[in-house]
Amino acid sequence: MKKVLMVCLGNICRSPLAEGILKTKINQEKVFVDSAGTAAYHVGNLPDKRSIAVAKKYGIDITIQKARKFTFEDFKNFDVIYAMDKSNYQNIIALSSSDEELAKVKMILNEPQPNKNYSVPDPYYGGDSGFENVYRMLDDACDVIAEKIASL
Ligand code: 4NP
Repeated sequence: MKKVLMVCLGNICRSPLAEGILKTKINQEKVFVDSAGTAAYHVGNLPDKRSIAVAKKYGIDITIQKARKFTFEDFKNFDVIYAMDKSNYQNIIALSSSDEELAKVKMILNEPQPNKNYSVPDPYYGGDSGFENVYRMLDDACDVIAEKIASL
C-alpha cells in the first residue's frame, strides 16, 4: 500500500481538494490518500464551503473529510508528503528528523512543473475564482501523481 499525504496550512481549503481529487484518480485498494494542516486552527472542521462547492461541481464529495494537524508521526506513516506551498514545505521539513524523512517531502506543483517550486496560492481570503484556480492546478498535479503511482 502506497501512502500519500497532502498538506496545507488549515487543512480546510487546498489539501482536502488535493486528497479528494487524487482519490478519484488512483485505486484506493492500492493507494491510501489523506490530508493534514500544519496549523491547528480548524482541527475537526469540515472543509471550507467553497472547497466543498468546487469539488461538488466536478463530481467529488469531500464532506467526509475532517481537518487534522500534521504530526511528526506522519513521516513514518506516509511514503510521500506533498506541501501545497513554500511555507507549508518549510513548516513540514522543520519537523523532520532524518534525511529519509526529509526526502519524503515535496512541493506538489513540482510534479507537473519540475524544480520550479511554485506554490498553490492560499485561496482562504479570496473569492470563489481562487478555488476554481486551485482546483485546476491540483487536478493537473494529481494527473501526474496518479500516473507516477500507477507505474511503480
Ligand atoms: P488552507 O487555507 O491552508 O488551504 O486550508 C487556509 C485555511 C485557513 C486559514 C488560512 C489558510 N486560516 O488562516 O484560518
